Amino acid sequence: MRSCHGETGLQGTFGVKHEFAIEHAGQGMSGESLRERDARVIANIARLRFSPLSLIGGRGNRLIEEGGRELLDLSASFGPAILGYSHPAIMHAVTQACANMAGASLLAYPNENAVALAEELLRLTPGSGERRVWFGHSGSDANDCAMRVVEAATGRSRFISFIGSYHGNLSGSMSISGHTAMTHTLPRAGLLLLPYPNPYRPTFSASNVLALLDYQFATTCPPTQVAAIFIEPLMADGGLIVPPPGFLAAIQARCRRHGIQIIVDEVKVGLARSGKLHCFQQKGWSPTWWSSARDWAAVCRSRR
Ligand SMILES: Cc1ncc(COP(=O)(O)O)c(C=O)c1O
Repeated sequence: MRSCHGETGLQGTFGVKHEFAIEHAGQGMSGESLRERDARVIANIARLRFSPLSLIGGRGNRLIEEGGRELLDLSASFGPAILGYSHPAIMHAVTQACANMAGASLLAYPNENAVALAEELLRLTPGSGERRVWFGHSGSDANDCAMRVVEAATGRSRFISFIGSYHGNLSGSMSISGHTAMTHTLPRAGLLLLPYPNPYRPTFSASNVLALLDYQFATTCPPTQVAAIFIEPLMADGGLIVPPPGFLAAIQARCRRHGIQIIVDEVKVGLARSGKLHCFQQKGWSPTWWSSARDWAAVCRSRR
């Protein structure tokens, strides 16, 4: 493969003049574009190509397109890059983590970095009683784990989630997602999918949804069978919907009454983007489980 060392002399967002080499940028040996090469070798299984861009790098708040054009990045890579790309503090922290204990398995041994991060997370996350942190690989993994944990803890096997919700792409989290892009897979048996009330397109009001939930509880979905409800306190991929005031409190009241665990999925809403560190704090919630993922890629590392 041809190696193209492009010195763009980018003036980075952090006041540092970056000169970097981009390996394999642009066309491959065949003269094909990156998009053509991608089409030839990357599986179709998980493609959501929203735009015609093909990218060869990122620096600060800019993405670098094939051909070298810089674009202001408003996507933050859908969460993981909320602090931009290649911030020196993040690069330093990642380098340090690689240089020290990167291979130590938390499964087999206590690991200083992991334990310190868990302590910090518990300090920053409101809640009472005995609390623990579980580290997985992704948001999907966090939600799969949540399903296993609450099933084992409650002895119940049914779940409730919302139409439009995306909880992940592993077999568990996918089976309780209600996103329209996932209708190619069947939902988990016994899943109750409710509409998420949208104040701007009010097909179902909050009281419609609550009435439907109560009706389900009274008929085909006895609450004693329900282990947990999965909810995004701000629905992300289903349309960036802030639920009507009082809706989440009403859901929480029902969950408390029936011993149903609350799993808040804040994987996409991310840390502090709602105005509070955790979005559920906006609503005065106290969930059983808080799933978070993407932005930790940036935030955790930059703190250390
Ligand atoms: C709300 C929500 N939950 C879970 C996930 C899955 O996270 P991951 O892609 O890290 O597996 C996503 C991903 O976009 C998400 O938006």
